[in-house]
Amino acid sequence: MSSAPVKPLLAVLRGERPSPAPRWMMRQAGRYLPEYRALRADKGGFLELVYDSRAAADITLQPLERFGTGATGLHGAILFSDILIVPYAMGQKLWFETGEGPRLAPPLAESDIGALVPDWSRYEPVYETVRQVKARLRPETTFLGFAGSPWTIATYMVAGQGSKDQAPARRLAYADPARFQAIIDAIVEATLPYLIGQIDAGVEAVQLFDSWAGSLSPQQFERWVIAPNRAIVERLRAARPGIPIIGFPKGAGAKLVDYARETGVDAVGLDETVDPRWADAHLPAGLPVQGNLDPLALVAGGQALDEAIDRILAAFPTRPHIFNLGHGIVPDTPIAHVEQMLGRLGGGK
Ligand code: CP3
Repeated sequence: MSSAPVKPLLAVLRGERPSPAPRWMMRQAGRYLPEYRALRADKGGFLELVYDSRAAADITLQPLERFGTGATGLHGAILFSDILIVPYAMGQKLWFETGEGPRLAPPLAESDIGALVPDWSRYEPVYETVRQVKARLRPETTFLGFAGSPWTIATYMVAGQGSKDQAPARRLAYADPARFQAIIDAIVEATLPYLIGQIDAGVEAVQLFDSWAGSLSPQQFERWVIAPNRAIVERLRAARPGIPIIGFPKGAGAKLVDYARETGVDAVGLDETVDPRWADAHLPAGLPVQGNLDPLALVAGGQALDEAIDRILAAFPTRPHIFNLGHGIVPDTPIAHVEQMLGRLGGGK
């Protein structure tokens, strides 16, 4: 008798506790891998890779091929793309300055959102990547799609680039809340079809990255983080029931509790500044969590890494838990340390 393939990561998102804890790494496809750097050197730029579905599918699968997919491997594949594809499809120009980061033009601090001309066909190659990955994925691996959350996307759209303390977006949100609300609403409307498109092409769960959630005061957090994430969760769940949603409000600290309760996400991602024992004590009972190894402990390796891993595993004796980093893996992370981490996790708990 044959049984359905077991996907431990998806099982955690549905409230189970497989042992050992399933794991993936934020930014697991990328610059710390020599095979990624080789492909990138061939193709020219990051966006060229995202828009070459064959290359993007290869990159999505690179970490799984290198580290394996069994008990001592990775249990999730995250789509190789970027959160800034949404503003690009909404009509901003997008490029990456070498050594500096993303640029979006015109910045919405200076230009009106209504002046942008959307081009939704910019989503299509990403869906093609999803279909290609799906066809090649091993049955035990869970395929994750993603989008940026509206506040984080707005910080880039308003400033036209990354910004210290997200000051341009925070200033606009106070000075002209109606105009800022219109930007947030437009991002929600652009994000929903993008996530639905990824799901229809084959992803099995999605993560909402709110990388700059930590820069907001409690009232602003309620309005610009919780409300739009809740809108996305409610509408996505109505449109595509049964697809788990992981919310990752980086830097939210104690506001994680309201975020978890009020957005309705199926799981919350914890960044490395959150004490996992605090999270276990304060988050709603039974809510799955994901995290939260300090990416720099992974760079350090050795005993410090083993101890950090053990502390995280011990903090969740009964709660469903996906092991992950607290934020993206950094480019100078030694591959051997990733292998050390996976070996440590593979023993179970
Ligand atoms: O492996 C994965 O996690 C999947 C792919 C992925 C990328 N970016 C690829 C990428 C994901 C999920 C993201 C999310 C993302 N992108 C976030 C949210 C998560 C976070 O880290 O907070 C943000 C804020 C961005 C925006 C972005 N993209 C920036 C600021 C930069 C430049 C700085 C940097 O880290 O290089 C990017 C480029 C980017 N996105 C790269 C990769 C692999 C580097 C591209 C390269 O130079 O080769």
